[in-house]
Amino acid sequence: MDYADAVHQRGSIKTYEPDHNVSDADLHALFELAVRAPSSYNLQHWRFIVLRDPTVRQRVEDASWGQKQVTEASVCIVVAAKLDAHDDAARVYASAPPAVQEKLVPMIGGFYATNEQLKRDEAIRSASLASMVLMNAAVTMGLATCPMIGFDPKKVSDIVGLDEETHIPVMLVTLGKQRGEKPYRTERFPVSEVVTIDRLDGPALG
Ligand SMILES: Cc1cc2nc3c(=O)[nH]c(=O)nc-3n(C[C@H](O)[C@H](O)[C@H](O)COP(=O)(O)O)c2cc1C
Repeated sequence: MDYADAVHQRGSIKTYEPDHNVSDADLHALFELAVRAPSSYNLQHWRFIVLRDPTVRQRVEDASWGQKQVTEASVCIVVAAKLDAHDDAARVYASAPPAVQEKLVPMIGGFYATNEQLKRDEAIRSASLASMVLMNAAVTMGLATCPMIGFDPKKVSDIVGLDEETHIPVMLVTLGKQRGEKPYRTERFPVSEVVTIDRLDGPALG
């Protein structure tokens, strides 16, 4: 399957074959692709918590306005992110030339250390990019997904052990075998409307 087919075939799927299992090997393959996503300074803020335990999943479903895909899909993934990912800069650049390390590591610390909004924005950006890679890759493995922010972040954090001081839940992604047809095709605003040149109110892409 080529990339365009995967992108077109992906949809947010809410009904799943409840008896279908996604193996650890398949999950591993998916996450190997997801973590190839880019992140600012390669800080890799993302963390993924794969929910398999039915009791845990029922609790997460209850904290997600009862959205059934949380328990019906083969797995539900809590995509979380580390806020102080800049603390990992020395490790990220450990194999870089010494001159690069000496320049970048303190610079990254200074860039993020006191800017709470930026830390949060970066965490959400990085984890979202990785989630998108995972969702498109899932299509190529015959699997369906649904990204979700319809949940109570405090409750979900408590259930899966996220300390809000250090990690935030970014989204849930359900993953499994699609059951039935998607009720309707979701359309998009035309490219001619959402892409402009040089300014928001510039001319549309030719
Ligand atoms: C950040 C985000 C949060 C979403 N939250 C939910 C959700 O809580 N429940 C749900 O059923 N769908 C959720 N969706 C799916 C969107 O409704 C869906 O992506 C959109 O309607 C476009 O449909 P498509 O993905 O099938 O093309 C979410 C999507 C995104 C990107």
